[in-house]
Amino acid sequence: MPIITTIQDLKDLHRRRTPRMFYDYAESGSWTETTFRENTTDFEKIRLRQRVAVDMTGRSTASQMIGQDVAMPVALAPVGSTGMQHADGEILAAKAAEKFGVPFTLSTMSICSIEDVAENTSTPFWFQLYAMRDKTFIKNIIQRAKDAKCSALVVTLDLQILGQRHKDLKNGLSIPIKPTLPNLLDLATKWRWIAGMSKTKRRQFGNIVGHIDGISDLSSLSVWAAESFDPKLNWEEVKEIKKMWDGPLILKGILDGEDAKKALDVGADAIIVSNHGGRQLDGALSSIRALGPIMDVVGDKVEVHLDSGIRSGQDVLKAIAMGAKGTYIGRAFVHGLGAMGEAGVAKALEVIHKELDTTMALCGETNVSDLGRHNLLVPHDFAGNWQE
Ligand SMILES: Cc1cc2nc3c(=O)[nH]c(=O)nc-3n(C[C@H](O)[C@H](O)[C@H](O)COP(=O)(O)O)c2cc1C
Repeated sequence: MPIITTIQDLKDLHRRRTPRMFYDYAESGSWTETTFRENTTDFEKIRLRQRVAVDMTGRSTASQMIGQDVAMPVALAPVGSTGMQHADGEILAAKAAEKFGVPFTLSTMSICSIEDVAENTSTPFWFQLYAMRDKTFIKNIIQRAKDAKCSALVVTLDLQILGQRHKDLKNGLSIPIKPTLPNLLDLATKWRWIAGMSKTKRRQFGNIVGHIDGISDLSSLSVWAAESFDPKLNWEEVKEIKKMWDGPLILKGILDGEDAKKALDVGADAIIVSNHGGRQLDGALSSIRALGPIMDVVGDKVEVHLDSGIRSGQDVLKAIAMGAKGTYIGRAFVHGLGAMGEAGVAKALEVIHKELDTTMALCGETNVSDLGRHNLLVPHDFAGNWQE
């Protein structure tokens, strides 16, 4: 058993154990991948203020996100096709999150369905909605999330059309994998993954197949998926979704102060400062750089969360100290899942928790809610001096 001490260790194992097209699907950004890279490198530019001779006993990372108790301010982000990284991936990740005491967010484009995850967990999870052209589908899936007792709806606003990720096109990403020579050679080394997948029945998009007329197999599904995201999505539709849901609403994909104000106007309970992990608009600011200016505009009026680029507990601490009330990890938990299933997701959470707790202590803080700008050394002009 390898000794895992970092998210990078899990990432290395994920690469070795999961079919290349699914590893690449996770570990890529759009076009030049500049935003994808800067999401992580910009965290490195922020330094920490070391403080000494502070009583470090009785530390706590416990906090709240949208009024719900969390063991640390880190939720699992919605990640599509997670059940292709590891058999039953969404169920396993949700279980690990439940045991750790952090929220799990299920993607619309998950392999395990809302009902599958609900049946296998007892803590309410969050559901992420992509706005689709098919309004009956939206109505039905919101009802399914309510029936499953989901405790928040996360509406993703930054994917009306898909950013291009070159690797997916070059790898011929498909579910199921096509039996081409390169794919078969790759699969020959991925016996754990094959063994897992051969034991599960969950191998297609569980929230969709069987829930839409005419969608019964994967070939028609891929056509459906390409055509189904709603390019007309606008703030009026967001209001309608809010009305239909009638519960805690989180708007994901906010990167601009103007949009943050609009999110506030439609009555969001929280916003997620996010560039979709660098998978959509290449050339957009990293989330950690965008956070400060958004905090200036709406920070005292709505709960602000952040994702994109978090690979350690130190990154979590930096985002919280910059003003976010919560954070999300995408790839960090997917690496754990691809590496070792549920135990790997638990490991990813443990690694991040330990880094957060130790860093907090060495910064002279004992409670995550006391973190603030006073703990950071942020370069002058970190947010950038941009001309519009
Ligand atoms: C493989 C993959 C699939 C994703 N699928 C979804 C999705 O279905 N819905 C969504 O709102 N965001 C999706 N995201 C974006 C994540 O929710 C999150 O914003 C992003 O992963 C955060 O960046 P990080 O991976 O650097 O932590 C996906 C991200 C990845 C890496």
